[in-house]
This record gives sequence, C-alpha cells and structure tokens, in this order.
Amino acid sequence: MENQIKTIGVLTSGGDAPGMNAAIRAVVRTAISKGIKVKGIMRGYAGLLSEEIVDMDSKSVSDIIQRGGTVLLTARCEEFTTPEGQAKGAEICKKHGIDGLVVIGGDGSFKGAQKLAHLGINTIGVPGTIDLDIACSDYTIGFDTAVNTAMEAIDKIRDTSTSHERCSVIEVMGRRAGYIALWCGIANGAEDILLPERYDGDEDKLIAHIKETKAKGKKHHIVINAEGIGQSQRLAERIEKETGMETRATILGHMQRGGNPSCKDRVYASIMGAYAVDLLCEGKSCRVVAHANGEFVDYEIDEALAMKKDIDDYQYDVSKHLGR
Ligand code: ADP
Ligand code: F6P
Repeated sequence: MENQIKTIGVLTSGGDAPGMNAAIRAVVRTAISKGIKVKGIMRGYAGLLSEEIVDMDSKSVSDIIQRGGTVLLTARCEEFTTPEGQAKGAEICKKHGIDGLVVIGGDGSFKGAQKLAHLGINTIGVPGTIDLDIACSDYTIGFDTAVNTAMEAIDKIRDTSTSHERCSVIEVMGRRAGYIALWCGIANGAEDILLPERYDGDEDKLIAHIKETKAKGKKHHIVINAEGIGQSQRLAERIEKETGMETRATILGHMQRGGNPSCKDRVYASIMGAYAVDLLCEGKSCRVVAHANGEFVDYEIDEALAMKKDIDDYQYDVSKHLGR
C-alpha cells in the first residue's frame, strides 16, 4: 500500500514551540523525496477554514531549521471546534486534493486532527508544545529549548538575588502543566517549586520555609512558580512583609517560547516530521507520533487523548530535598 497518498498538507496549531520549523521541513522534504506534493496550511485550523493554502517545495523550507517560531504561523480557532467547522475543513482538504494531513501541535490540536480523521482525511499528529504535557510522549517539540531558555534566565536572576540577599519569585510558563517549573526547579537549585499539579496553596508553609532557610544563613531564596498558580507579584509582596527579606517577582513570559531550537529539538522534530509522513505512506491515519522508552513510536489518537499526564512523583520528591 506504499504511496497511495498524493498530496500531504501540513499545519501548526496552538502555541508555537521552537523546533516546529524543523518538523515542517522534515515533512516537506520527506514527502518530496517520495514523490508526494506538499501544501502548507497557514495559521492552523483558522487558515484551513479560510483556505490559506500554499504549495511547498524543498526551497520553501530552506534556512528554517535553526529558527524559532513557525513559518506557517499558528492560531487558535474557535470555529473549528464545531461540527460545522470540522466538516468545512474536511471539504476544503478534499477540494485541494489533500489526502494526508500532518498536524503539529498539542492535545487541543490533536482533537481537531481526530475529527478530520473521522471525516475521511488521513491525519497524523506530531507533539509540538513547550509544556511537555502530551501524556503518550516523554518528549514534545520545544520543551528542551524552552526549559533551557528559562534555566539560563533564572541563573541570571539568581546572581543578583544572591548579591542582594533577596528572595526571588520567578514565574515560568505552564498554565496547566508544571514540567517547566519542575525542571527549572531542579536545574536552578530552587528552594521551593510551586506546580499546578501539586501545590496545596499553603502560603504560610512557604513563608515558614523561607524564614527557616534565612535562619540557616542562605543568601537567597528562589521560588519557581508556574503560570497556572500565578499571583507572583502578590506573593512576593506577602513574602517580603512576613519574612523581612527583600523580595522581587519576575515573570519570564513569552521569551520562553521563542529562540533558536536546541540540538535535541531540531533532531527529534526532524525525526517526528519524517515519521508522520512515513505513517501516511503506510496507509495509517488518526495516529500521533510519540517518543517513549527511548524509541519513536505512534499511538491511536483516541488512545493518546485518553491518557493522563501527571508530574512524576519520584522527580518531584527528589526536587523537594535538593533545594533545602
Ligand atoms: P494545543 O494544540 O497547544 O493544545 P489549543 O488547545 O489552543 O492548543 O488547541 C488548538 C486548536 O485546536 C484550537 O484553537 C481549535 O481550533 C482546535 N481544537 C481544540 N480543541 C478541539 C476540539 N475539541 N475539537 C476540534 N478542534 C479542537
Ligand atoms: O504553548 C503553551 C503555553 O505557552 C503555556 O505554557 C501557556 O500557558 C500558554 O501557552 C500561553 O499561551 P498564549 O499566551 O499564547 O495564550
């Protein structure tokens, strides 16, 4: 059944992530090497519905592997969450001869891909999100770059925090997922890490801990706070008031989503993009590419979406002892 697919569409959807360009490039060049045409769909599902569809060739993905962001642009699209929007999307794919589609994005984007697959478009998802919150995969495109960007920024804040003997509350991205916070917490040697999945909201306990480390003679106290908990400025003011330690809040924000992808993000994204095309060529649909137990694998989208990602208990326990 090799090569029944004639034209593959590719889109990026949801929050952008460094390495998405490497995945797009791999989709385009792998497909072309197999004699398949490629169409780039701009602005995710929004661009599909408005038919912003461009022909892509090998040159259209020149000089992008090293760039952050996504050359196809990305968007969130409310209309596509409706059955009418999905039916329109499937019709537009058919009209443009797109018989295979690669969707690079997170869980939300995969739900859209699942709907298109059920409407007869062969669709494969590739995990692209800095949050590392795709349950079936221990890797998502962009996490490695984002967590390194955040780590380097936090090192800089730590320098000045130590010089001034201050407490720093540093907010990292992750509305529902605490992996960036957890990894920075470990990598930056934070004294406290507040994760949406684990934080009990007990600020008195946090303040008691800051007083305790201060009494032990620590020259700074770093609190990594995930975006999902938020309120960093208010928390910093309360810490300063109750501990007497000067405290500053820093929200790292969208700088974590930009920048040149790390080597790992370039390589893994390239492999995942190529793998998605291979799945389409094998006649597969409604699957997501993943990385698990040291291998690139694929799962049924329904199965992947039913899995729940949680913080690894062992990693979290280790983090609690190391910053004390
Ligand atoms: P991510 O893919 O990073 O999780 P979002 O949750 O914002 O990002 O989803 C991206 C887009 O995927 C949404 O704007 C919407 O167009 C589409 N999408 C999300 N949920 C669904 C759904 N249940 N059915 C169809 N499409 C969806
Ligand atoms: O892409 C993931 C993410 O960066 C989350 O960590 C964050 O909560 C969210 O997207 C913010 O999205 P935006 O600012 O684009 O709405």
